[in-house]
Amino acid sequence: MFNKLSLKDFDLKGKRVLLRVDYNVPLNSNLQITNTKRIRASLPTLKYLIEHEAKIIIISHLGRPDGKEKPEFSLKPVAEKLGLMLKRPVLLTADVGGTDTYKYVRTMREGDIIMVENLRFDPGEEANDFDFANRLACLGDIFCNDAFGTMHRSHASITRLPEILPACVGLLVEKELSVLGAAIESPKRPYVVILGGAKVKDKISLISRLIDVADVLLIGGAMSYTFLSAAGFSVGRSIIEKDKLELAKLLLDKAKRQDVKMVLPTDHVATGEFSFSAPSAVVQSKNFPNILMGMDIGPSTIKTFKHYISKASTIFWNGPLGVVEFDRFSKGTEEILKAVANSKAFTIVGGGDTAKCVEQAKLQSKINFVSTGGGATLALMEGVGLPGLKAIKERI
Ligand code: 3PG
Repeated sequence: MFNKLSLKDFDLKGKRVLLRVDYNVPLNSNLQITNTKRIRASLPTLKYLIEHEAKIIIISHLGRPDGKEKPEFSLKPVAEKLGLMLKRPVLLTADVGGTDTYKYVRTMREGDIIMVENLRFDPGEEANDFDFANRLACLGDIFCNDAFGTMHRSHASITRLPEILPACVGLLVEKELSVLGAAIESPKRPYVVILGGAKVKDKISLISRLIDVADVLLIGGAMSYTFLSAAGFSVGRSIIEKDKLELAKLLLDKAKRQDVKMVLPTDHVATGEFSFSAPSAVVQSKNFPNILMGMDIGPSTIKTFKHYISKASTIFWNGPLGVVEFDRFSKGTEEILKAVANSKAFTIVGGGDTAKCVEQAKLQSKINFVSTGGGATLALMEGVGLPGLKAIKERI
């Protein structure tokens, strides 16, 4: 059929390339970009397209404007930032594939870059609407999906465009798929996975899949209390998901049967209330006071986790290990992050919150690969598949 897996398989000279990127970047109240990682990550594909004399039409979403034109979700700051990074003009259209967009696309020359306004200003994007995708398709000769962070969404620009235009993935998506794919298919061992974050519920299939491929799972963060409770420990007033206790037990049993070490915290920094200023104490899992709740992993747990990290050849990390919104309870995450950054293992960080912790600690240069995806990374690691990739592969 007409799709190809790689951008490098297309003759690009003079072609209009409709490039889907994920410029869903964080903005502050002055609409300034607070983290440019996703823009930086798109530069290799953009430079490749420029070198190969394509005409580049960028499409992306930003935030969740619910199908309405809301100025606070405009891609204007992104177009400006990208122009500065590439040192060339990036023209932002006033509409989403309407008359203004066509006007500019008609007169484009090789190497020119146009950015279409936020796709989610049109309800057709999230509705996976075929007519909306057809309107977008008129803008290009080739569709390139480099929006790794959005490939888990069945939206018009992700799943419909590869049905209409000859399509491929971009260089960022190729890189993400190869690094994350290898972490699932052929990791160097010992393979240590660090899992934290709020809910067991959101990560059941991820944990189950990781038990199949990893040697050690280090569990921290809020979800560790559900596992501790399932393992028979009392966890005081720590929040647990009662309806997931049986499932947590099954996962602990599965790990045991498959000889995978599932390491739960042995001590905690605990407080009497969920607040940044509440007095705290270090308590043991064996003896958790009824009136306290866990906010971070404790010093013995940090030591144990560091021991496994020092032996690892591959490390994958998803989810903070404590309540990192409060500085006082981010020590466990920070300490483990430093240990991961200094380890000799091949290190991968996936998931928005964890990637944010890496950037805040300015350790990104010491991690081998920080994925640009949140939900998409987890979907890939879980093995549930990415609709954006499926749509391209079905027509290769
Ligand atoms: C993300 O930031 O995870 C992607 O851009 C997808 O955004 P969404 O969760 O709003 O679909």
